[in-house]
Amino acid sequence: MAALLEVAHVDLFHGETQVLWDISLSIAPGERVAILGSNGAGKSSFLAGVTAAIPPAAGEIRFDGQTLAGKRPHAVTGLGIALVPEGRRVYKDMSVRENLEMGAFPKSARGRLKQSLEYVIQLFPILGQRRDQPAGTLSGGEQQMLAIGRALMSRPRLLLVDELSLGLAPMITKSIYRTLSELGSGLTILLVEQNVEQALNFSQRAYILESGRITRSGRSADLLQDADIRRAYLGI
Ligand SMILES: Nc1ncnc2c1ncn2[C@@H]1O[C@H](COP(=O)(O)OP(=O)(O)OP(=O)(O)O)[C@@H](O)[C@H]1O
Ligand SMILES: [Mg+2]
Repeated sequence: MAALLEVAHVDLFHGETQVLWDISLSIAPGERVAILGSNGAGKSSFLAGVTAAIPPAAGEIRFDGQTLAGKRPHAVTGLGIALVPEGRRVYKDMSVRENLEMGAFPKSARGRLKQSLEYVIQLFPILGQRRDQPAGTLSGGEQQMLAIGRALMSRPRLLLVDELSLGLAPMITKSIYRTLSELGSGLTILLVEQNVEQALNFSQRAYILESGRITRSGRSADLLQDADIRRAYLGI
């Protein structure tokens, strides 16, 4: 099957500083893939490349057969890529409903705003109960649900999630992962996590990113059993 996301030999810089070297990976439609790595490995930087927030200095990123080179972030969202950013970044003074509506800005999503709202609230009923509250009054877990809901409002085909579990209680993390796993194969998910065990349990395949380079990849079930991975990332 043709890849939905195809990344070939990408180098990426923050200003003068190179943070990614020769990154290649490929994600098929409907797959759930994780990129794992410790602090500063370059996970968020990689997602910045995929959303066109930081264009790669070398290599190419293709989505559904189209190159992202020269595209602005808004155009990339319009193509069907949505990011749940690290730290959630909800608009704290705006209501839950307004936050969700902000997610529906691509032209293709605007006409379906009402259905999308219903869909997101059915996934995360607490957002319906809190719809008129300022987002800043939500708990961390609820804010993460809101950030995911806002991303889904753009009707993406590829959902990028940066550090879903950060700062959340394990029970909450588990419940959000369960909801994501019920979204079905119409949605492809690329997940970036420091929480290696959660991410390997959720994903089908994973890549290990170390100091800006992919050092390993494989089926998540195999990596979960791997002695080196367990020692390095699971403390076992
Ligand atoms: N705006 C920036 N300007 C310069 N360097 C940056 C910038 N943002 C990140 N970096 C550097 O790029 C490298 C990769 O950072 P990045 O945030 O992508 O890592 P990460 O894997 O997401 O880490 P974490 O797990 O802590 O979120 C780090 O060395 C970081 O210091
Ligand atoms: Mg990060």
